[in-house]
Amino acid sequence: MRAAVYKKYGSPDVVSIQKVVNPKPSAGEVLIKVHASTVNRTDTGFRSAKYFLSRLFSGLLRPKIPVLGCEFAGEVVAAGQGVRYHKVGDRVFGYDDSGFGGHAEYKVIRDDGALASIPDGMDYLEAAALTEGSHYALNNIRAAKVKKSDVVLVYGATGAIGSAAVQLLKHFGTYVVAVVNTKNVDLIRSLGIDEVIDYQTQDFTKTTHRFDFVFDAVGKSSFAECKPLMKPKGIYTSTELGKRGINIWLALTTPFGNGKKVLFHIPTIDKDDVLFLRNLAHQGSFRPIIDRQYALDDTVDAHRYVESGHKTGNVIISIV
Ligand SMILES: NC(=O)c1ccc[n+]([C@@H]2O[C@H](COP(=O)([O-])OP(=O)(O)OC[C@H]3O[C@@H](n4cnc5c(N)ncnc54)[C@H](OP(=O)(O)O)[C@@H]3O)[C@@H](O)[C@H]2O)c1
Repeated sequence: MRAAVYKKYGSPDVVSIQKVVNPKPSAGEVLIKVHASTVNRTDTGFRSAKYFLSRLFSGLLRPKIPVLGCEFAGEVVAAGQGVRYHKVGDRVFGYDDSGFGGHAEYKVIRDDGALASIPDGMDYLEAAALTEGSHYALNNIRAAKVKKSDVVLVYGATGAIGSAAVQLLKHFGTYVVAVVNTKNVDLIRSLGIDEVIDYQTQDFTKTTHRFDFVFDAVGKSSFAECKPLMKPKGIYTSTELGKRGINIWLALTTPFGNGKKVLFHIPTIDKDDVLFLRNLAHQGSFRPIIDRQYALDDTVDAHRYVESGHKTGNVIISIV
């Protein structure tokens, strides 16, 4: 089969399209013919190994798993012994950041893993983008114990994480203020977000709102900058470690105080989470925003674009 392969860490150029052996499903696994995947910040993070920490999972000197692609959508074409949840012919989507393999024509995954059927009426391209940004968003929203009466600031609401976060927060009934670029103001307003701040013409720190939760979904603010905007027991979280890893330090120390806290949550995902996201998509409460679409042959270009940090929502790889 054809796959986008990387055998060493580095720039997008370490990725190339190669022929590799087709995977076979073991007991408890299904084989998926992949129709679509995404290139996202999880893929580019592992590929670049910019944070040395990622090598503890992906291989100290070189990648142990040569095909990236943690998100995928496709059709089940074979099933190993003891498979219970999915059958041959099912249209499925899911997330796999331990096995990856979505940037290929076929991949295997545990049947009881983060896998669910695609909602009726949704195509493979859209379904491929249902899990990455949204599960990071969901993890943080749950960890912050967000309530319906809360007022929430999402800084950087146009990435995969931010655009999912604002939709999930609206689903949970909170009042959402989103900070975005001029070109995306209308797009984010169209999601029913309560207030949109254009960071190119407005200073978000001048808002008169006071927030229960500040979710920096692009990692470009700081706790110090946002603290005056937070309610006395407010929570701040960021998708980045901050300067010299300060967000980790603050997450370890601020919980001992009685006031504003920093949260640094390690995300997880399982079948129940994917089913939850599937149901939100089915009822129309969450749709992934799609920016660009690339063919598998152009995966390197997709890596370059995603790594720019300026994509709007998700970047799709079409495999069939
Ligand atoms: N290490 C990992 O495994 C990993 C995995 C996932 C995510 N992350 C981190 O999580 C963050 C978000 O990832 P993502 O995929 O959701 O985002 P993303 O798609 O990379 O994009 C970030 C979004 O933020 C916007 N933006 C850029 N500068 C901004 C600013 N100063 N103020 C407000 N918005 C700004 C960008 O659009 P404009 O430039 O057009 O405004 C873009 O839409 C990134 O920092 C990423 O590194 C890390």
